[in-house]
Parts: sequence; C-alpha cells; structure tokens
Amino acid sequence: MRIAMIGGGYVGLVSAACFAEFGIDVAVVETDPKRLQALREGRIPIYEPGLDALVASNVTAGRLTFGDDIATAVKGATAVFIAVGTPPRNGDGRADMTYVHTAARQIAHALDDYAVVVTKSTVPVGTSRRIAEIIREAKPDVQFDVASNPEFLREGNAIGDFMRPDRVIIGLDSDRDQTRAQEILRTLYRPLYLIEAPIVFTSLESAELIKYASNSFLAMKISFINEMADLCEHVGANVHDLARGMGLDGRIGRKFLHPGPGYGGSCFPKDTLALSRIAQEAGAPSRLVEATVQVNEARKASMGSRIINACGGSVAGKTIAILGLTFKPETDDMRESPSLPIIHRLMESGATIRAFDPVGIEAAKRVLPDGIQYCDDALDAAQDADALVVLTEWNVFRALSPTALRARMRGDIVMDLRNIFEPGAMRAAGFTYASVGRP
Ligand SMILES: NC(=O)c1ccc[n+]([C@@H]2O[C@H](COP(=O)([O-])OP(=O)(O)OC[C@H]3O[C@@H](n4cnc5c(N)ncnc54)[C@H](O)[C@@H]3O)[C@@H](O)[C@H]2O)c1
Repeated sequence: MRIAMIGGGYVGLVSAACFAEFGIDVAVVETDPKRLQALREGRIPIYEPGLDALVASNVTAGRLTFGDDIATAVKGATAVFIAVGTPPRNGDGRADMTYVHTAARQIAHALDDYAVVVTKSTVPVGTSRRIAEIIREAKPDVQFDVASNPEFLREGNAIGDFMRPDRVIIGLDSDRDQTRAQEILRTLYRPLYLIEAPIVFTSLESAELIKYASNSFLAMKISFINEMADLCEHVGANVHDLARGMGLDGRIGRKFLHPGPGYGGSCFPKDTLALSRIAQEAGAPSRLVEATVQVNEARKASMGSRIINACGGSVAGKTIAILGLTFKPETDDMRESPSLPIIHRLMESGATIRAFDPVGIEAAKRVLPDGIQYCDDALDAAQDADALVVLTEWNVFRALSPTALRARMRGDIVMDLRNIFEPGAMRAAGFTYASVGRP
C-alpha cells in the first residue's frame, strides 16, 4: 500500500514515519525548501525524541521518501493525507485555512485515480466537505472520498502517541457509501487494531469537532488548576495536594492538573480560539471556552509582573537567568510559549537575560528579541544572576543542586513557575524561593 503525506512538519513527519514503520510506502511532500533539504540529507528539521532513528530506518528500507512534487507523491496513492498548518488567522483567531485549501487544490490537480483524501490537520467543522467541493470543482470526473482523521499526538511523545493512541478518530461522509474509504483506513491502521486501540468511526462533522473539543477541554483543565493555584496562594493551601485530592476521583483524572505560567504551544492557544469562533458563528457560543482563552492570555501576560514583584518591584539593571524557553519539555517548539511575553516584559523593564534551554535555543533565537545571552547550561545561565526563573520543566533542571545554583548566583531570588524544586531545599540553600500555588 502506498500513501502521500502533504506537509512534513511535526504531525506530517511523525505520521509518515509511523505509517512507514507499519509497512506502508509513504511519500512526503514538503514545500519549505529548508525542511525538505534537511529531510533529503537525513537530518530531522524538528526535535522529536526517537524520530531521527525511525525516519532513518524507514528511508533505508525504501518505504519513506521526501519531495516537493505532489503529482509524483499522489500517483498510485490510495490515501492522501493533509497535514499542513492551520495557524490562527491574523486579527480574528479563526483557523487560517489557506494551506489546507491550497493543498486540496494541488491534490485535485494531481489526482487521476481513486484515493481517499484524509485531513489530519486540525480544521473547523465543514472543512472536509469544503475539500471535497474543491476537488470536485477542479476534477469533476475523478473518484475520491474525503475523511477526517484528526491527530492527537503530543510533541515530545509523538511516536508513542501515534503507535499506542488512546483512540483513533475517523470521520466519513455519512451521506455516501463509504465502504471503500473505510476499508483503506482500516488497512492503514491495522497494527493499531492488533493492539486493541479504540478506532472510532463517525461523521465528518463529529470528527472535526472532537479534536477541537478535546484540546479545549484539556486547556480548560489547565486554566482551572491555574486559577486554583492563585486561590491556594491567597488561602494558604497547596495546589499539589488539591490536584491530587481532586484527581484521584476517576471522573476528574489526575492529568493536566499541573499549575504553571499558562499553556502555550502550537495547539491549545489556537484551537481554543478557533473553537470559540466556530461556536459563535454556529450560534451556540461557548462561554467556557471563551473564558479559558481569556484566563490563559491574562495569566501569561501577568507572569512578567509576578517576576518583577519578586525582584522587589524592578528588574532594571538586573540579570535574570531563564531556565527553559520552549512551551514544554522534549520539544523545540516555541510557538505561543509563555517564555515569549515573559522575556519581552523583562527586557522592556530593563533586565538582562541569560537563558538556557536544552534544545530550543536555535528556535528561540528566531522569535525572541536580540540581546539575550544564550548559555551553555543551567549553571552557566545562573552565573552572576540576580534572580532565576524556571519557565520549562526539563528533567535536567530538576536534577540541579540548589547549593550549586546558589554558589553561581549574585542574588538569591528563584521564581519557579513549574514547581520543579522542593521549597524546603531551596530555602535551606539560602534562596528567597517562590513557586506556584504552594505556601
Ligand atoms: N504540533 C502538534 O503537536 C499537533 C498535534 C496535533 C495536531 N496538530 C495539527 O496538525 C496540523 C499541522 O501541525 P504541525 O505542528 O505539524 O505544523 P508544521 O507547521 O510543523 O508543519 C506543517 C508543514 O506543512 C508544510 N506545508 C504547508 N503547505 C504545504 C503544501 N501545500 N504542500 C506541502 N507541504 C506544505 C509546511 O512547510 C510545514 O512544514 C495543524 O493543523 C495542527 O493544529 C498539531
């Protein structure tokens, strides 16, 4: 079996490599010349644990190829996956469908035999039907079906999530006979049937909405625990005890109850915003999702002030060490990372920034202002710093010795926005230590 994957980013590349590992021939189409060149030279243009080895072995086995010619990739493919970006549209927060619609038009021109066109990108309700229209307009005679197969992988654990998913959602057109499309998708995901992963067939509209609703629910959970962390600080409770006490209730669950500086990344911010717009346009506004967006924006924006207050009300002329730049550990993704507004605020307020991130520095340089001193490791960042701020909970930071940190720093302030350090140990090392939602 042969498939095409349009888009070789986080989702496209991981999905392509995993399908290839399942024994399927996968042709990846990538239009970004730098990304494509890297892939052709055997380099992985993004950081994702284990992806380099998976890509290399499947390239060697001849099952995974990279190119920019969609016609070559689509020829002979029984399924064509769309895995291009759907960033927020400037100004209104709706998903920008330019890349998806362009991909649909390109697929239409390339298609000369039956294929199922599968959307993996996160797209608003109605997109799969729009893709079908685009293809039908361009190629009225070609046989095809459309499917919605939203991707739930998490960056940092993407291969495991793809290979052992909680579920696979496949939306098909409930108005037409979908036997052929269903058979192709069942074959593609056969290895997951063998491990009894739930594979849920539903309508196009439901599949499209499941993805947005899932991400928005998780984002809402994070915003909820962040608000509870604030409350804990005011009433002297401990947010970790609160989260554990809540999470042991199976109806609530323990995951996504970790407080922090607000969620970031390429998915939650844009997907909550897009869902709130989708709901407004459909005439069924979601006040919970709208509030989640607002709570998170306000939280990220307030973190700079929190740090400045911890530094005695001013950071002018002070050196701040920043540990972690990416929106979460085990990725180099800087999209919507809380580090962006925080570092901007600190620099505008006159601070000098010494920053370290295990893999995100190159990506950070592209989006952060000039003038940041990028360091070789956490201790290097702490050198002569007046204050230290933890922004991403990389494991390597958890292992830091408080006394070694203290010895490097000029000042004694630590603002731990991920609660990775033990308050008692930090105070014993001589720090004025503040974290999130803990007494
Ligand atoms: N990143 C995640 O963790 C994640 C998880 C689940 C779902 N998603 C969704 O998956 C989609 C893709 O996200 P991503 O993070 O992989 O984006 P990305 O920006 O990393 O990758 C998209 C890639 O598509 C390429 N591209 C765009 N138009 C193209 C075209 N016409 N032909 C060939 N290549 C083209 C771009 O050059 C880019 O490399 C989005 O809708 C996102 O919301 C992302």
